[in-house]
Amino acid sequence: MSQSTTHAALAGFSAEWLSLREPFDLAARAVGAAQPEMEAHLTSLRAAVASEAIGVLDLACGTGANLRALAPRLGGVQHWRLVDHDPALLAALPAALARWSQQQSNRYVADAAAAASGCRIDGAGFSATVSWERLDLSRELASLDLSHTTLITASALLDLVSAAWLQCLVERARGAGAAMLWALTVDGRMSWEPADADDAAVHALFGRHQQRDKGFGPALGLQAPAFVLAQLERAGYLSTVVRSDWSIAGGQDASMQRAMVDGMAAAAREQEPSMRARIRAWQARRTAGIERSRLLVGHLDILATPR
Ligand SMILES: C[S@@+](CC[C@H](N)C(=O)[O-])C[C@H]1O[C@@H](n2cnc3c(N)ncnc32)[C@H](O)[C@@H]1O
Repeated sequence: MSQSTTHAALAGFSAEWLSLREPFDLAARAVGAAQPEMEAHLTSLRAAVASEAIGVLDLACGTGANLRALAPRLGGVQHWRLVDHDPALLAALPAALARWSQQQSNRYVADAAAAASGCRIDGAGFSATVSWERLDLSRELASLDLSHTTLITASALLDLVSAAWLQCLVERARGAGAAMLWALTVDGRMSWEPADADDAAVHALFGRHQQRDKGFGPALGLQAPAFVLAQLERAGYLSTVVRSDWSIAGGQDASMQRAMVDGMAAAAREQEPSMRARIRAWQARRTAGIERSRLLVGHLDILATPR
C-alpha cells in the first residue's frame, strides 16, 4: 500500500520495511514509467527546463527510494533536497544511497565534513547533488522553502496526509510554479488469487484503518488519488496518471506477502476488535496458502505540470 499504512499499523516505517518493499516499488514504477503518455510528459518536463539543473524536493524520503527510482529517469543535472521527520531513516539514508551507487556503478562522493547531510552522485546520464534534512512536514509545510524547486515529489506518502494538508501543498506548489510527481499512491484495488471468502471484509476494515490520523489530520487513505487529481485540475495542472501496481507472488516473494497479510490483519483487528477471531482465521488461511497465492495491490503514479 503505499504500505505506508500497512506497516504503520505494526512497526512504523522501519528501514527494513522500506528495503523489503523497494524492489516491488521499483518493478511497479517501471511499468508505469514505460507508458508512452508518462514518458512523453516527463520528457516535456525535462525539455521545459532545457539545460538548467532540475531542483527536486522529495517529501517523506525515508531512505531515499524515490531518488533511486527517479534520478536515472530524469537525467541531466539535478539538485535533490530530501526531507523526512524520522532521524533513524535519515541516518540510514547515506549508506542506502552509497550501496545503490555501488550496485549501479554510479560515482558516490561524500565529503567527510558534510557526509551526514549530503553527497554527490554521478550515474549514467545524470549528475545529482543531494542533501537531506529532518523536517516534520505535518507542522512545517507552510514554511517549506520551495525556491529553486522544479519538481516536488513523494513516493508512498499521499494516503497518509489529510485533505487540508494536500490542498495547501498543491497551492504552494502552484505558487512556486513547480511540477509534481506523486508515486505509488494506493487506489483501493486489491485482489488475491486464489480468492478467500473473507478478503473483502478484511480489505474493507483495512481501508477504513487507512483513514486514521497518521500525524497530518484525518488521512485521505484510498481517497488520495481522486482528491489530489481534483486539486491539481482546480489549480490548473495537466496530469498524467499511470498504474504502478504491486504484484506479489507468494512462491517467490513469501516474506513480502507475509508482511502484507500480517499488516492487514493487525490493522483490521485494530479497526474492528469484535471481528478478531474471524480476522485471525483469515490470517491463518492466507499464511498457510502463501506459496500458492498472488496479491495485487493497486497504486497510481501521477505526474502534473502547470499548464
Ligand atoms: C511509506 S514511507 C515512504 C518512504 C519513502 N518515500 C519510500 O518510498 O520508501 C512514509 C514516509 O513518511 C515519513 N513521514 C511520516 N510522517 C511524516 C512527517 N510528519 N514529516 C515528514 N515525514 C513523515 C516517514 O518517516 C516515512 O519515511
